[in-house]
Amino acid sequence: MQPTVIAPSILSADFARLGEEVDNVLAAGADWVHFDVMDNHYVPNLTIGPMVCQALRNHGVQAFIDVHLMVEPVDRIVPDFAAAGANLISFHPEASRHVHRTIQLIRSHGCQAGLVLNPATPVEVLDWVLEDLDLVMLMSVNPGFGGQSFIPSSLDKLRAVRAMIDKTGKPIRLEIDGGVKADNIGQIAAAGADTFVAGSAIFTAPRTREAYADTIAKMKAAVDAARG
Ligand code: DX5
Ligand code: ZN
Repeated sequence: MQPTVIAPSILSADFARLGEEVDNVLAAGADWVHFDVMDNHYVPNLTIGPMVCQALRNHGVQAFIDVHLMVEPVDRIVPDFAAAGANLISFHPEASRHVHRTIQLIRSHGCQAGLVLNPATPVEVLDWVLEDLDLVMLMSVNPGFGGQSFIPSSLDKLRAVRAMIDKTGKPIRLEIDGGVKADNIGQIAAAGADTFVAGSAIFTAPRTREAYADTIAKMKAAVDAARG
């Protein structure tokens, strides 16, 4: 299993102070920045695009940026995100007509590639492409909004995908996205996740560096305890 990564989702950050929020969460111990891209088409919400990713780089953010594309079509926007400083680009197979081609496209632009499974998407979609991926992400809520509750069947799905990844012998990350909190992250880690997105659990009042550090420390301690 890969070293633990906590990836705060900036979907729940204060967008009017985005640079400061990202600086604070990174200083508080976050490992990655999770960047949710929604198009009001593939999902019923609209967020941010490559210009905002570039703005974070221009602001001085050097951390790993984990771009989660909830857009359709996918391929048109991939080169723009690579140029804007994305490190990893993940997408939903339902949003791409040629999943294998999109993975190759992401890699050809120098980024790591991830595939995202919705709660109802069967794990068999990973057959034939798993070894080409750097990361598999399971949605533990339906994509589109922060602040939803963790769907419990995601735990069994994590165990199933963990076994598939272990069988490859490759260092493929298993990320979970949706409803992750300090009080359920231990169970989620025990089910096999090594990379944890958390939006509303981290970016909440009082929105201070200290509060973010406290939540992230609690999450890391729970993951360490679960991993033994
Ligand atoms: C939902 C997004 C998530 C979201 C998670 O479509 O992909 O990254 O921000 O938010 P929480 O942690 O609040 O469920
Ligand atoms: Zn996300």
